[in-house]
Amino acid sequence: VYTNTFAAELPIPTVIKPSTSYTNTENGRITEFYELEIKSFERQIYPDIKATTFWGYNGLAPGPTFKVTKGVEAVVRVKNTIEQEQSVHLHGSFSRSPFDGWALDTIKTGEYKDYYYPNQQNARTLWYHDHAEGKTQLNVNHGLAGMYLIEDPAMSAKLALPQGNYDIPLVLDSKQFDAGGQIAPPNLHGDVIMVNAQPWPFLNVENRKYRFRMLNGSPARGFKLTLVDEADTTATALEFTVVGSDSGFLSESVKTKEIILGQAERYEIVIDFEQYEGKNLTLKNARDFNGEEDYPQTDKVMQFRVGTTTTSQDGNGAVPLKLVDLEKFEDHPTVDQTYTFAFDLAKGKWLINGVGFSDGNPGRVLASPKQGTVQRWKIVNPNDGRVFAPHPVHVHLVDFQVMSRVGGRGVVAEYEQKSLKDVVYVAPGETVEVLANFAPWSGLYMFHCHNLGHEDNDMMAAFDATQVDL
Ligand code: C2O
Ligand code: CU
Repeated sequence: VYTNTFAAELPIPTVIKPSTSYTNTENGRITEFYELEIKSFERQIYPDIKATTFWGYNGLAPGPTFKVTKGVEAVVRVKNTIEQEQSVHLHGSFSRSPFDGWALDTIKTGEYKDYYYPNQQNARTLWYHDHAEGKTQLNVNHGLAGMYLIEDPAMSAKLALPQGNYDIPLVLDSKQFDAGGQIAPPNLHGDVIMVNAQPWPFLNVENRKYRFRMLNGSPARGFKLTLVDEADTTATALEFTVVGSDSGFLSESVKTKEIILGQAERYEIVIDFEQYEGKNLTLKNARDFNGEEDYPQTDKVMQFRVGTTTTSQDGNGAVPLKLVDLEKFEDHPTVDQTYTFAFDLAKGKWLINGVGFSDGNPGRVLASPKQGTVQRWKIVNPNDGRVFAPHPVHVHLVDFQVMSRVGGRGVVAEYEQKSLKDVVYVAPGETVEVLANFAPWSGLYMFHCHNLGHEDNDMMAAFDATQVDL
């Protein structure tokens, strides 16, 4: 067991540059062309034993970060050089169906696929990861995930939040390694907490504001996070400000002392380190949280070491209360139908209304929303005493508004209320209602639990956004 906490600095994933770009002379539209190669590589995680084998986009884990500008399209060529089949999903993008990482549309060894991403959405933190049927957990656990940021320069200038070196991605993960230092089969919640693929890192920060884009990239573990000064034994959790979620900026910034980060959820937070200069703050994870397995150090995530100087005041002003205008789907004129989906164990598998992805077409197609209509989805996590497992439920293509949560916590957290989301954390015993507009495209898309062990076995289904006659 690796328990050496706060021994190494947080690595920041490199930013990928396009290999070329094209300007369409008719409409001035720019398309950037990027290349990713899926390869295996080694990294020393444990100092004294063999290096660990990872699989990564361009031989990196996490993969390189994309920073694209809203309105600039991207074509990403993904070449697979390893034996496992691959499918790449850009999570949070309204990609057209053939480029959405359909679990059966795989890239085999030696092949490549070009993915087209429109990048027309508002500024947001997306991520890309493998989505191959039955293999997603294995592939993601070996390192196949990375950040993809859509930036909107006008919005960045307006909100003036911390940028550049003060805007840092944190990809949280939880892994298990075997005695030889290799990544163990991902059937446990993991006893090693990693951020940007480094076990329990520390980060030196200046005494000013930082923006952290947190992603829970772990296959199986959900986190409940707090920020504390562990040297102060009387300390209570410290306040931080939530400014963004899965689908970009919140309508208003929300101050909190605790946040739940289910698998695949993203929350962007601003921490003001000014009042903590010279201190070490720990990002902590709750114990005994919804059945997550606890190990000696899984209550810690990373440490911030606060310095005594600040080199720049850029983006260090007050975080605005009002951020952006979010679409309210309850005001939409065409709320169409209501679907109810029970995420539950049945027939020895994780299923949705008794159906799994391997049931094939058309069996696994559980909804046919008309393109451009608003649908109400009720997501049920029954807690009848047989199983106790949270389900972070993700719907492709859409952003949704979380309307209500009944049972369990019984509330929609303030940071969820002021967000649009593409994953909602549904704890045991909870029923969550969401509203989504099934736009802009028609086509076949997946929805599933983002606990990757559940997804692979077989808690995933499809919806067919059907085209409306024009
Ligand atoms: Cu993050 Cu269907 O995936
Ligand atoms: Cu699940």
